Amino acid sequence: MRHPWRLLKSALPIFAIVALAGLVSGCGGPYPQSALRPASDFATSLDDLFQGIFFWAVIVFVVVEGALLVAVFRFRDREGKRSAKHVHGNTILEVSWTIAPALILVLIAVPTIRTIWEVDRPTTDPDALLIEVVGHQWWWEFRYPDLGIVTANEIHVPVGRTIDIRLTSADVIHSFWFPRAGGKRDVIPGHENQLWFKMDSVGVFPGQCAEFCGMSHALMKMEMVSESEEAFEAWVALQQKPALGTGDTAAPTEPEGVAEGEDVPEPQADPLDPELRAILDAGNQAFLGSGCIACHRIDGTVAAGVLGPDLTHVGSRRTIAAGILENTPEEMARWIRDPSAVKPGALMPALSLDEDTIRTLVAYLESLK
Ligand code: CUA
Repeated sequence: MRHPWRLLKSALPIFAIVALAGLVSGCGGPYPQSALRPASDFATSLDDLFQGIFFWAVIVFVVVEGALLVAVFRFRDREGKRSAKHVHGNTILEVSWTIAPALILVLIAVPTIRTIWEVDRPTTDPDALLIEVVGHQWWWEFRYPDLGIVTANEIHVPVGRTIDIRLTSADVIHSFWFPRAGGKRDVIPGHENQLWFKMDSVGVFPGQCAEFCGMSHALMKMEMVSESEEAFEAWVALQQKPALGTGDTAAPTEPEGVAEGEDVPEPQADPLDPELRAILDAGNQAFLGSGCIACHRIDGTVAAGVLGPDLTHVGSRRTIAAGILENTPEEMARWIRDPSAVKPGALMPALSLDEDTIRTLVAYLESLK
């Protein structure tokens, strides 16, 4: 028989390869979508539970593997070694190895059940901010019913305040998941699921659909901007406004015909500069004429489609196309030119627009802050 040290030496390259593979494939961190770096009360509960179970798993591993190694080395076959003694049962040993795992299971089960109850009950916080989430193939719609805001793929939340999330789907089953906020809840058509958490750090947290929902499931991403109460209020105030160029930024109307003898009223000044006004007017025309209004809504204009994301403040978002493209004029043009080339199976059709129209639309959409 080979000496055990020699055996160990020959196994070393295998250990090295496994360790290297682990390092290369993802044990390097820190990763933005890591459930091991909790940023909310919910995620912290899950992490505490995980750490507790991991602790017991390490103890079991060390005891079992330790006993195995002792047995392998101490009782290995050697020159002149007597053959093993045969025994038929040992009551004390058998009772102990039944009771010890049962105890460990109790120590795991109690915190597990406590955590499930804790995170599964509806929130009772009267100050909770209600957000409705609707999953679509392949993007996220976020509604703040108490604030009158509708947005897409980018959720803003005030840090330290309970967020009460209600989830449903417009088509197939999706799953809402911000790993650092905890949770992961199925988003089911015709059924409302619930989830709540309180973010404890400020930052931008990526999330994505976690249930296979079709061809572009992997491209159904989203972002959560967790910010101070003041920054959140500022964002809300901006989102509540109608689109730029309408409402209090609308072009002044021409004065009505003035009867003889009356003073001619002073012409009102345009609240927007002429260059921006030209972009908005041309873009609005292109938007109406290109078929975009069939699916998209821009508050304050006649565009009132509900199939696609609300674009009232699309220029203020960090990303487009469900978190997969940066919100830049180049990427916006790429998306409008051929959505399916960016996101296979996307419901938004390529409208075969000429480059001038695309430029006009991009300038318009980017100005909708
Ligand atoms: Cu939606 Cu996967």
